[in-house]
Amino acid sequence: MAKKSPLPTPADARAASQHAIVVSDARYVYPNGKVVALNGVSVTVDHGELLGIIGQNGSGKTTLTKLLNGLLQPSSGTVVVNGIETTGRTVQEMSAHIGYVFQNPNHQLFARTVQAELEFGPTNIGIEGEELAERVARAVEFFGLQDVIEEHPYRVSFPIRKLVGIASIVTMEPSILILDEPSTGQDHQTTSIINHLMRKLAEQGTTVVCVSHDMPLLADVVERVIVMKDAQIIADASPREVFADKPLMARTNLQAPQITEIALQTVVPLGGPIALTPAELAADLGARLSSKG
Ligand SMILES: Nc1ncnc2c1ncn2[C@@H]1O[C@H](COP(=O)(O)OP(=O)(O)OP(=O)(O)O)[C@@H](O)[C@H]1O
Ligand SMILES: [Mg+2]
Repeated sequence: MAKKSPLPTPADARAASQHAIVVSDARYVYPNGKVVALNGVSVTVDHGELLGIIGQNGSGKTTLTKLLNGLLQPSSGTVVVNGIETTGRTVQEMSAHIGYVFQNPNHQLFARTVQAELEFGPTNIGIEGEELAERVARAVEFFGLQDVIEEHPYRVSFPIRKLVGIASIVTMEPSILILDEPSTGQDHQTTSIINHLMRKLAEQGTTVVCVSHDMPLLADVVERVIVMKDAQIIADASPREVFADKPLMARTNLQAPQITEIALQTVVPLGGPIALTPAELAADLGARLSSKG
């Protein structure tokens, strides 16, 4: 393969690229040759978009996200991130452009302390001194890691380890962040930290791609959902459209958030909203009750 030219800085690459992510007709077959994990997947994600990916187990979600950061290279088709085609690029090269949080933190963490884990990523892309200390301090504060900073990442509980995995990528401040099942195994408090993180990043203009089975989380934060089934994307729409589509949900063995289900069975036939959150449904019910009273 011809030697690739050096990459532009992440900021230059982002500024020069029309889209954050462009996947064109990507196919991926695992090397054992038996599993076609992606079969003609195309998707474009704009800068600053907050995108959810849903789909039943084994539908290809993780494989798609691994293609985005160069961990896997498409068997055919192309993947372009901030204008950079991933083919022939190393994960190391791509890591300054796109942050990737693994589904399982045990596949990601390797430093001896939480502090060292948080410092590793930014140090690797040339951040040092005061800037490094500030980034780590902000992450410790945001994720509430003050009490575990000196601990070995494998000695903290699984939910906290997962937060450390997310924090260790966030400290790199990538312009695109991929989260694979960030809230699995999390309690209410840590899920709400992840919810706030996604909102905050979106406000800052970061592109966020979140794979999740946690429908209430996605319903609350993302503005677009793609649905995968059998190695393909079968729907791409707003969460309201996706979660209200009963045949689609049934075909993929997925369940809309319970709040949306209740709304569909009660207020929607009366002209009410396809509620995505308890607050939305409560507002509609409140208005109906007070207009009757
Ligand atoms: N390393 C591998 N070698 C061979 N096949 C694999 C490998 N990893 C995944 N697969 C297969 O590829 C397909 C897609 O897997 P993938 O992990 O992308 O699905 P997923 O949608 O992320 O599933 P989950 O919801 O369980 O995380 C599945 O059939 C899976 O068994
Ligand atoms: Mg997966």
